[in-house]
Amino acid sequence: MHRPRVYVTREIFPDALDLIEKEAELEVWPEDVPPTPEQLREALSGVDGALINVMDRVDAVLLDAAPNLRVISQVAVGLDNVDVALATQRGIPVGYTPGVLAKATADLAFALLLATARRVVESDKWVREGNWEIAHHPMFWLGSEVNGSTLGILGLGGIGLEVAKRALGFDMKVIYHSRTRKPEVEAELGLKYTTTNKVLAQADFLSIHVPLTPETHHLIGEKELKKMKPTSILVNLSRGPVVDTDALCKALTKGWIAGAGLDVFDPEPVPKDHPVLGLDNVVVLPHIGSASNRSRREMCLLAARNLLAGLRGERLEECANPEVYQALGI
Ligand code: NAP
Ligand code: GLV
Repeated sequence: MHRPRVYVTREIFPDALDLIEKEAELEVWPEDVPPTPEQLREALSGVDGALINVMDRVDAVLLDAAPNLRVISQVAVGLDNVDVALATQRGIPVGYTPGVLAKATADLAFALLLATARRVVESDKWVREGNWEIAHHPMFWLGSEVNGSTLGILGLGGIGLEVAKRALGFDMKVIYHSRTRKPEVEAELGLKYTTTNKVLAQADFLSIHVPLTPETHHLIGEKELKKMKPTSILVNLSRGPVVDTDALCKALTKGWIAGAGLDVFDPEPVPKDHPVLGLDNVVVLPHIGSASNRSRREMCLLAARNLLAGLRGERLEECANPEVYQALGI
């Protein structure tokens, strides 16, 4: 019996690979460094299915080089690296992993928010560098208080909602703006819907959870940062280009805002000599929002199941372009 060919573009959890190997011939990109576009084209040239990562760009050039491709399965929820509309035109379902990572990513949003507000990373570094010589001082290491403050959320989807739930445990007032208003969430959790401008103006903490699209590219630039409180802290776990990096650096150095907690950056990785790394009021993490053992394993397993469903000609458990099913007759 013909076994489909699958390419996996990065190491993933072994049980997810085992699942794929039961039904397909499997090849895995052996390095941690992502394949270049040319290497990716070559790797996918004869395969039926591809299990990909956020750093792999799927565009017309790649799809032209992979004429047998019947399913693309991304181990992530954000799909800004994939031309989903083009995949739809070509009858290729695109799998992704919403939901299973929302709680872990929201946990990290809170870790960043607290770390930035209470200067956790900065003071830890200070201690390790041998500076703790006065045991205690009433005026040392003052930060912002999280409890009782106002959290503004931009993008109330899977992750934004989990962040809101955590904020309620900290007695925070939660205001939000999202493309679609969510009256049932407002009623259940007491969230307040308002305009982006009011979120910017009223939030003590701004947490960004929109996908990167042409509409959200540089959603936060100079104009928006100037609307924020000088005491406020911006937390970004969406995608780097949602925030204009140069404008953010300006805001942090000129005091338009008080600090930033960044899990994502534009560009990634952050250049080693980037000015943001010299700022004490910033915590920078290497895009680890969903990086817990449990979530990453669930993401890999879901991506493997999406891939196999596509290869079998079945509907995917989580499909970003279900409109493709009509053309496929499934
Ligand atoms: P999601 O459930 O799709 O939520 C995104 C929310 O943003 C939705 O509620 C959506 O619309 C809203 N939205 C979309 N465009 C908007 C716009 N122009 N203005 C205002 N709101 C808009 O996705 P998610 O699972 O929460 O993930 C969100 C993003 O986080 C992903 O796309 C990804 O880029 C990023 N992410 C990062 C990490 C990390 O490791 N740092 C991990 C996971 C995800 P509606 O209001 O219509 O619902
Ligand atoms: C990670 O960044 C994701 O989009 O899942």
